[in-house]
Amino acid sequence: MNWDRTLSLIPDGVQTMSKMPNKYVDGVYPKYISHGKGSKVYSDGKEFIDYTCGLGAIVLGHANEDVNQAVFSQARKGTLFGLPHESETLLAEKLVEHFPMDKVRFVKTGSEATSAAVKIARAYTNKETILCCGYHGWHEWYNQTTPKNKGCSKSKVYPFNYNDIASLRALFRRHKDVAAVIMEPYVYDAPKENFLDEVRRTCDQNKALLIFDEVVTGFRTNKWCAANEFRVKPDLMCIGKAMGNGYPIGAVGGSAKIMDVLKHKDRTYKVIFVICMNAGRIDPVDITLINNFCGIIGVEYSVIINRVSKKLMDFDSRTMITKFTDKNPTNILHLEMNFNVFDEDNVMLENGDIIKEFINAQKSFPIVTSNIGK
Ligand SMILES: Cc1ncc(COP(=O)(O)O)c(C=O)c1O
Repeated sequence: MNWDRTLSLIPDGVQTMSKMPNKYVDGVYPKYISHGKGSKVYSDGKEFIDYTCGLGAIVLGHANEDVNQAVFSQARKGTLFGLPHESETLLAEKLVEHFPMDKVRFVKTGSEATSAAVKIARAYTNKETILCCGYHGWHEWYNQTTPKNKGCSKSKVYPFNYNDIASLRALFRRHKDVAAVIMEPYVYDAPKENFLDEVRRTCDQNKALLIFDEVVTGFRTNKWCAANEFRVKPDLMCIGKAMGNGYPIGAVGGSAKIMDVLKHKDRTYKVIFVICMNAGRIDPVDITLINNFCGIIGVEYSVIINRVSKKLMDFDSRTMITKFTDKNPTNILHLEMNFNVFDEDNVMLENGDIIKEFINAQKSFPIVTSNIGK
């Protein structure tokens, strides 16, 4: 491949600054890697021992047979569904077994994990300022603190120095609304004795959360992560890179109390019904039952009613109400954020908000349309 051709199409020819050509000696280093196996990578037929390890993601070696086998086997069965897959639970169980976390959410990159952790911390504490130490990815909440901050919107994020507790304390004195400290617990050098303990204590004194960014250190220490190694428990932890051995996956996890800020608490989740009905007809008796049930347990429920008296595609008159009163049996009822499984016809619909696009794009709903108005 000709490098000029690459440069004509891709800014700087790379997808991340870490692969920039100016990081390597021009004319000496190869420009492309064609493939890798185990500890070796190949370029123009030459073999190299690979110390970059895919920027830290490759912990089991390139093209690891077991990892590939697992990925390929699932790929043959489908990779994206509209409902959870049980492997998510199995993986969550593994993570909470080894990392100091009770609950976990999965993401695709380390940057997403750190951004999620910052968001969770701000939501949980109702405070805004973030103090950071280390590298936390390319998202703008962090990038604004670096010289490469053009295009980043500003929020209250301030860096402190690794192994320098005084620099952290100074920031706490200046900012009274610190939601969290996010830091890499091990940056090239081991943390000085007591440094992590002091960070923990300072966070507690100021009612700020402590987030360990273990995107690099996760899976790389004897005890799975630096938090375990140095026996300092963060409130939230971010992992990524080695977690997927080259496949895109990451996670943010923490105590159940904190992670539960992610649970929806607004009206749409107070009660969940999945109504199975034949082709959108709701019997008035069902409606009475639902109303009665909600009355008994004392909740309101919200529904999106798609008026389909003429045809299914007519979603324009869709209305959302908080109390179901419409007893017209020709309406289709979509409980917000739920899936309506049209039981007898085995058709699965998306939730109300995007159902229109899905149905338009996909012509495979003749069963639904043909049943409308029957
Ligand atoms: C400590 C740390 N956090 C976060 C990230 C961002 O991860 P990703 O590149 O997967 O978005 C990196 C990436 O190098 C990292 O080193």
